Amino acid sequence: MIEKFDEDYEVCNCHKVKLGEIVDVIKTNNIESLRELQEVTGAGTHCRHCIFEEGDFGKMKKKIYCKDIFNEVKYG
Ligand code: FES
Repeated sequence: MIEKFDEDYEVCNCHKVKLGEIVDVIKTNNIESLRELQEVTGAGTHCRHCIFEEGDFGKMKKKIYCKDIFNEVKYG
């Protein structure tokens, strides 16, 4: 799924965190949980709509979520 998006795609609009940064952080910091990913990048720590689909209460739904990225990078 994540290969459909450019690495500059902004996943977390509140904190302006891009897809490429999230992928890099998961790999280089050996991130073990979604919470840890949020702590390191700041993504998902404001409105929280970008964490996972079930928690997206925004008017404009996100196209991709931190949880999807985490799972794909960690577990393929
Ligand atoms: S869009 Fe990520 S916290 Fe708001």
